[in-house]
Amino acid sequence: MDTLTKNTTEVEKDLFPLLGTDYVEFYVANAKQASYYYQTAFGFECVAYRGPETGSSDAITYVLQQGKVRFLITSSLNPESEVSKHVALHGDGVKVLALWVDDAEYSFKTALERGAKEAIGLQKTSDDNGEIVTASIHTYGDTIHTFVERKNYKGVFMPGFEPKTTTVPVKSVGLQYVDHCVGNVELGGMNKWVQFYQDVMGFKLLITFDDKDISTKYTALMSKVVSNGNGYVKFPINEPAQGLKKSQIEEYLDYYKSAGVQHIAIATNNIIETVDQLRKNGVEFLQVPDTYYDTVMDRVGSIQESLVELKRLNILIDRDEEGYLLQIFTKPVQDRPTVFYEIIQRRGAKSFGKGNFKALFEAIERDQELRGTL
Ligand code: FE2
Repeated sequence: MDTLTKNTTEVEKDLFPLLGTDYVEFYVANAKQASYYYQTAFGFECVAYRGPETGSSDAITYVLQQGKVRFLITSSLNPESEVSKHVALHGDGVKVLALWVDDAEYSFKTALERGAKEAIGLQKTSDDNGEIVTASIHTYGDTIHTFVERKNYKGVFMPGFEPKTTTVPVKSVGLQYVDHCVGNVELGGMNKWVQFYQDVMGFKLLITFDDKDISTKYTALMSKVVSNGNGYVKFPINEPAQGLKKSQIEEYLDYYKSAGVQHIAIATNNIIETVDQLRKNGVEFLQVPDTYYDTVMDRVGSIQESLVELKRLNILIDRDEEGYLLQIFTKPVQDRPTVFYEIIQRRGAKSFGKGNFKALFEAIERDQELRGTL
């Protein structure tokens, strides 16, 4: 009886329970080459494809998978298409943060009733493997959330896609699942979008960082983190704050031309092995000075990993009340200084690495200076 009461309360708290991130879809100029990069550099495996050969005359999509992380890499053959226009304006970037739900129609209807704007209406598609139900709502910038219901589907991904195995030699780097996805929004937009996730999606506010937490001599930003009820989906939202020079968030907004996804944090069980392999594959990371490691142990206390290895790979460490975490950030992965990745290993800590912010932002500023955008 206790259990029943508890479950009922949890369901009531969650407007529409999210089972996790279903996929992240990127609109890019050249899906063939971008998907090759994610396979060779990040160790994703190509599992499905759609294109002219499968009856999709316009959009080409490669479906990549590693652990529970699923990326869709999409480009278009038609310069007038929505995909091509998105790429022309934003460069390569994230279009869809898809959310795995048990009931897409209910989730969509609930979100619309609570003020969401429809992006793509309810779609039911089927093939020999069953049925998929999807529907999409707008969020910040040109980004959308697609609700995906796949409980009646047994295929590799979705109707319209064919299973594909790749000829690219792929070795997993141990990426497990999407830990959080961060959005950059315009000055004054942070509270509006936090309110959106609270009102429309039933998320709760987890943490607030202001410019006292996140500032260097030159730049500042503010951030709030929202999470769904079960904590499977976490969205930090950043906005620029007043600083002496241009903040990294302003630089992002200038190049992306709107609000959009700034970074995707992916969890691993062994960050040393993961980052070692990513570096061997040519992935570039932000570099904090070696002096970071002179004092870090005073701040975080004892840890299981070798500090020598962490220093060699430039992995950062932070601790909160519940444990510690290890993290590292890549440089932007396309020509524009926009989207990048975080690799994170949690050892109890549920926070986001506040103790590393200063060292990180100084590292970003050194790169901004090289680009002449500080
Ligand atoms: Fe992060």
